[in-house]
Amino acid sequence: MSDYAPSTEFADQAVGKAGLFDEAAADHEAFWAARAHEYVTWSKDFDTTLDWSDAPFAQWFVGGELNVAYNCVDRHVDAGNGDRVALHFVAASGEGRSISYADLQREVAKAANALESLGVAKGDRVAVYMPMIPEAVVTMLACARIGAPHSVVFGGFSAEALKARIEDGEAKVVVTSDGQFRKGKAMPLKTAVDKAVPGTTAEKVLVVQRTGIDVDWDDSRDVWWHDAVDGASEEHEAQPHGSEHPLFILYTSGTTGKPKGILHTTGGYLTQCAYTNSVVHDVHPESDVYWCTADIGWVTGHSYIVYGPLANGATQVLYEGTPDSPHQGIFWEIVEKYKVSILYTAPTAVRTFMKWGREIPDKYDLSSIRVLGSVGEPINPEAWRWYRDVIGGGSAPIVDTWWQTETGAIMNSPLPGVTALEPGSSQRAIPGIHAEILDDEGQPLTEPEQVGYLVLTKPWPSMLRGIWGDPERYKETYWSRFGPKYYFAGDGAKYDEDGNIWILGRVDDVMNISGHRLSTAEIESALVSHKQVAEAAVVGASDETTGQAAVAFVILREHGESADAQGDELVTELRNHVGQEIGPIAKPRSIMVVDELPKTRSGKIMRRLLKDVAENREVGDVSTLADSSVMSQIKDGIDKPSSD
Ligand code: WTA
Repeated sequence: MSDYAPSTEFADQAVGKAGLFDEAAADHEAFWAARAHEYVTWSKDFDTTLDWSDAPFAQWFVGGELNVAYNCVDRHVDAGNGDRVALHFVAASGEGRSISYADLQREVAKAANALESLGVAKGDRVAVYMPMIPEAVVTMLACARIGAPHSVVFGGFSAEALKARIEDGEAKVVVTSDGQFRKGKAMPLKTAVDKAVPGTTAEKVLVVQRTGIDVDWDDSRDVWWHDAVDGASEEHEAQPHGSEHPLFILYTSGTTGKPKGILHTTGGYLTQCAYTNSVVHDVHPESDVYWCTADIGWVTGHSYIVYGPLANGATQVLYEGTPDSPHQGIFWEIVEKYKVSILYTAPTAVRTFMKWGREIPDKYDLSSIRVLGSVGEPINPEAWRWYRDVIGGGSAPIVDTWWQTETGAIMNSPLPGVTALEPGSSQRAIPGIHAEILDDEGQPLTEPEQVGYLVLTKPWPSMLRGIWGDPERYKETYWSRFGPKYYFAGDGAKYDEDGNIWILGRVDDVMNISGHRLSTAEIESALVSHKQVAEAAVVGASDETTGQAAVAFVILREHGESADAQGDELVTELRNHVGQEIGPIAKPRSIMVVDELPKTRSGKIMRRLLKDVAENREVGDVSTLADSSVMSQIKDGIDKPSSD
């Protein structure tokens, strides 16, 4: 049994009460209709809560109209809260600037006017490739205001990755900055846009001057933010959009090399983001200071920096920098200075802080913290306890939230005022969500410790509406493994004796590195695009800090001419090549050059065996290999592993 029941004081003040479970169980659709009315201001009320007749293509709150930017900004000003801080922006230098809801309203209106003057109209796509600066949030909201779906591309992705996403989404405008600050240094960013844009649909590039570094400039295409936005009108009328109007596309890794553009729409997405931010993070907008440390390039930044908290009128911290710069105590300095009361971060960060030692956070006053959150991968119980004791003063509830880019918002999580916590488990579906674990045959598992597949059994408001431009892939990826009724999440899971769900990681070829999803296929195709590589296999090996790390096995081409690089030099070159093709986060931790890869007779690479090698385990059953001696050759070869 859990030692971590909520205190009476916490339970009494909590937004999310146990009654929500009963309400949701009584009537799924009525429950969500009530949340839609509670959390969202509709310009026109909806007449049908859910239309599932064209499953798996859902429509939520049909007939309803709303403007997301109005909901996230203007209505708070209208309610008399214009002076409330929306964003405490903390620059990478540590310097701070506070932006009120009234300020945000002006900035969003100006940016919407500027984007329209660059030709952006309702339905056009806008690619966003920016650091963690207020202009990024403003851009997303301005797009939402116009009804122009944004496609945010993580600033750590390469020019090639950006180009592929601009092309797939057919973006009309790209918003970026001259550069970005990384560990105290100004690094280029626009250079990647300059490489990515030519030959695509993008007509204009809007550029925030963030660092002042030199940039190349194309007068016919590039426009400075300070020229286009600063002088634009502060008046912009927010038009209502249909509940199912596309809000954004966000690319995520799948099992093939081609990233999937996950499509989210307006009314259902906003409803579930606001509701979960309220009942899971327990946000009290008038008193809390909330800080989600994710990057806006990932779904967590979309749902729990931009849309959920702003819809709720919360005050939050937006941090441009990294946890280790200017010093390893910067997170705690920020918590102390802004009296952060709710902190939402990733297990990989917690494990890094653990490694650095508790002396660092112990130097700061963290007594403002009352709720902690975790997202992106399973949090191991040891890290969970450290997080609770060292950061949470031994008493803050931790909400371990399981969800995905595809689910749009939190699905499984404790409710901090209701649930007795179980370290390491995201526990149960929240009220309104229905999860089950199925065996290979699609039969529900009910006994503890049986390992199966996590599925969602009822449509939910913030569910993805499809894969951009590829309805077949949508059906195939999510709705075919267990028939048309169940959404297959791609995660393995089991129950414990108390009925808590434990997520056991991906069952497909998707890795989770520092909470970021990367597909093995994507890295493999980057490796084989190098002229010296004939074949590549990548596996996700467990890693103490990052959860998983990519380990690559490559077969080199037989060269007539002599190879350009060899040994360690080649490994470095290949890692950099992957960095260039995808981005630095995708660089394999190690690359082993091998003569053969373990394959079945049908030619399928047996990654399971490579994973055994990468994780230093006894190699498993090799009986289905075409050549069973391959594994001993590989094992012999890697007694001298090459990595840098
Ligand atoms: C994993 C991030 C265990 C899971 C919001 C999922 C988790 C994938 C948790 C989605 C958690 C996320 N416990 N595993 N609390 N949260 N995951 O799309 O494998 O970047 O399928 O969304 O991360 O990653 P994505």
